Amino acid sequence: MHKVQLAIVYYSAYGTNHAMAEVAAEAAKAAGAEVRLRKVLETAPQTVIDSVPAWKAFQQKTANVPVATPEDLTWANAYLFSAPTRFGTVASQMRAFIDTLGPIWQQGHLSGKVASAMTSAQNLHGGQETTLTGMYTTFAHWGSIIVPPGFTDAAMFKGLGNPYGASNNMGALNEEVTDIIRYQTRRLVTFAEKLVA
Ligand SMILES: Cc1cc2nc3c(=O)[nH]c(=O)nc-3n(C[C@H](O)[C@H](O)[C@H](O)COP(=O)(O)O)c2cc1C
Repeated sequence: MHKVQLAIVYYSAYGTNHAMAEVAAEAAKAAGAEVRLRKVLETAPQTVIDSVPAWKAFQQKTANVPVATPEDLTWANAYLFSAPTRFGTVASQMRAFIDTLGPIWQQGHLSGKVASAMTSAQNLHGGQETTLTGMYTTFAHWGSIIVPPGFTDAAMFKGLGNPYGASNNMGALNEEVTDIIRYQTRRLVTFAEKLVA
């Protein structure tokens, strides 16, 4: 059997999506997948980042995380994206990365792979679902096999109860959210295993 190779690609200004991606990476490895955890390139002007202490501090804290490249998505046979809600849709840093993928899309490297997404927002109903479905729209254009967690496990009836994907209010992850992330990741790896077998 071929191995599941999962690219976990995130954007995070303040740490929430990074923490979510790390929980997913741990769960994926425990499920037997090979994992590349990658941040997308920051596109905001450095002067703006420097003017927001929490943003600047988190940027420095994660300076050593490798930046996602198109080759990471060519290598992977499964994708998990995580990015904050910004005005009801996915953060532009993630979109900027997605917009570099035209050449590998044209070469067919994005097609037929399992994909799922996670997000966070400040507010309880601040746009988590629209952000996730926005990423799923892109996955549909790639011809991905979209694997949302759905209401398919007891974990999904706790936390924010979002069948589209794990979502967190900004800040520390509680146990309900980490259970959902782990479940969503295991489910993604399970479907990937069926495809790469
Ligand atoms: C420009 C901007 C727009 C935002 N728009 C929304 C929004 O529409 N709804 C919401 O609930 N939170 C909004 N937020 C809050 C972010 O979703 C929050 O900062 C993010 O989830 C934190 O994730 P991170 O810690 O991974 O950066 C916004 C934040 C910024 C900076």
